Amino acid sequence: MNTVLALETSCDETAVAILRGDRSGRELLASEVASQVAAHEKYGGIVPEIASRNHLIYAPRLLDRAANVAKIGVWEVDAFAATSGPGLASSLMIGTSIAKGLAIGLGKPYLAINHLEGHLLSPVFGTEKNGGNEIKPNVSLVVSGGHTMLVLVRRLADYQLIGRTVDDAAGEAFDKVAKMLALGYPGGPEIENHARGGDSKRFDLPRSMHGSENFSFSGLKTAVRYLLPKIAVIPSGVEAATRPPKAARPGFQSRSVTEREFQRDPSTPLRFARDDVLRDLCASFQQAIIDVLVAKTLAAAQKHAVDLVTVSGGVSCNQELRRQLREACSRKGIELKTAEPWLCTDNAAMIAFAALLRLQAGCESQVTEEIDPNLVLA
Ligand code: KG4
Ligand code: ZN
Repeated sequence: MNTVLALETSCDETAVAILRGDRSGRELLASEVASQVAAHEKYGGIVPEIASRNHLIYAPRLLDRAANVAKIGVWEVDAFAATSGPGLASSLMIGTSIAKGLAIGLGKPYLAINHLEGHLLSPVFGTEKNGGNEIKPNVSLVVSGGHTMLVLVRRLADYQLIGRTVDDAAGEAFDKVAKMLALGYPGGPEIENHARGGDSKRFDLPRSMHGSENFSFSGLKTAVRYLLPKIAVIPSGVEAATRPPKAARPGFQSRSVTEREFQRDPSTPLRFARDDVLRDLCASFQQAIIDVLVAKTLAAAQKHAVDLVTVSGGVSCNQELRRQLREACSRKGIELKTAEPWLCTDNAAMIAFAALLRLQAGCESQVTEEIDPNLVLA
């Protein structure tokens, strides 16, 4: 039986988890996450200096809380792990320094874990009952805010990159389009909520890089940007719509907003002449992303002749993506494993899981191993 304590501080979430397991099963003793979304919101993006300062504040508190919840002392932990990349350098340094310090101080092994391996293994967290390193070969779709990639997983630590985004990640596209629509952050859940009941065929948006194993979402984002002036309303008493309203409402004059007017201040809150325009736009945008993710994942699974597809990362919280991926897999007789929603967004349980599997496979890292903000998986 091994007990692993892991820290995740690669971006704007501070997280600590304690996982205990052997070859017959595992028990998650604690998983604590402190989100910093509110601290960065007013800057319109993540400020690395603020992120690392907050990690310094939260990490010791979460360590304390995790040990209390797990009802163990740190001296009972067998190995300490931390995310060592990819991510923000000054954030990665906090988690890895704490894990290394504990490992050195208590004379225990240290494991440097790739954040993407954490996501990639998260769908088998609950189901992989052997507890060992018996990971079934699969094609894994990792869709987060920072990454979109398809990976052929042969076994633990044997990964081959099939394709990746050449520009924006899927989550990034959700966030940027949500920002254009003046919806909140993170954009994925906002767009998913607004898309409910919408007509996903109303707006014809591009599905890029057809026939390639790579992804590109920047063209889709640009297509939405060009579409907006035609369908949105800038609340300056000016109303524009694809179909002019039958009777102009008092106080509104109906005319199209020019591209230049719209571009002058893209942060201006938008309104739509009718509620269904926003709903249909969100549904059409979401469907454009889902179509590409589903088609490329299924093509990769068939090419590599695997009978298992896994999906992880923040975007895999999306219910419509899960539903359509499940349908497509079942049509081809392929099993689909998804991570539970709380495991999809950044957390330390997935890092502890990767560390436990690696520890049981006899791997450990040197405490001299440095962080790598651009660490690749394969
Ligand atoms: O994996 P994650 O927590 O962070 C990174 O490692 O990047 O993913 C965060 C991303 C954000 O871009 C967020 O908008 C997206 O996941 N996301 C979603 C949904 N929930 C979170 N995208 C689409 N639909 C959702 N329901
Ligand atoms: Zn992540």
